[in-house]
Amino acid sequence: MSGKESFLNKVNFKTGELSVCGSHNKTYLSDIKDLFRDKDEVYKRLKENPLIYETFYPDIKENGNYVFYGITKIHPGKIGKEFFMTKGHLHIPEQITEAYLCLSGKGMLLEQKDNTVQKTLMEPGTINYVGESSFHRVYNIGNEPLIFYISCNADFEHDYSLLENGGFLDVVTVDDL
Ligand code: PA5
Ligand code: NI
Repeated sequence: MSGKESFLNKVNFKTGELSVCGSHNKTYLSDIKDLFRDKDEVYKRLKENPLIYETFYPDIKENGNYVFYGITKIHPGKIGKEFFMTKGHLHIPEQITEAYLCLSGKGMLLEQKDNTVQKTLMEPGTINYVGESSFHRVYNIGNEPLIFYISCNADFEHDYSLLENGGFLDVVTVDDL
């Protein structure tokens, strides 16, 4: 499978698994420990090192004419007051937009563009369109796994530079509920 030929896939709405999956990646607290704001809590929780999120992608090669898709599953939990989250990134080229269809759970999409942040709710059935030049990160604000389908053009790279330059201007915590 490379994206050239038609194929059928099936997502398990409870686990996020794809029946046809090329890569399954797991991100633990130790992988993103510098991104949470409460450093004391990070230090305490590192012994346990919880699984924060997983991604499931079929093998679709980078090609500007192809559609890329996948599933992200964020586990429920918090580090201090801040909910478990993805890293957050910008697409390069910045014109590559993206759509998220929430399948199960409850989330909050955090976007930052031109030093302005926006928070948008995700719940089963919502479709979030992430526009051009928008840094985007997703938080699980519920008590069960947040599972969402993502789709965009198949020829882009992730730019994580914002995370090394002070990070997002805002985060999502229990105070947002
Ligand atoms: O392209 C997307 O926005 C998603 O597939 C993300 O890559 C996924 O949710 C993980 O996000 P990140 O790479 O910012 O940790
Ligand atoms: Ni993205």
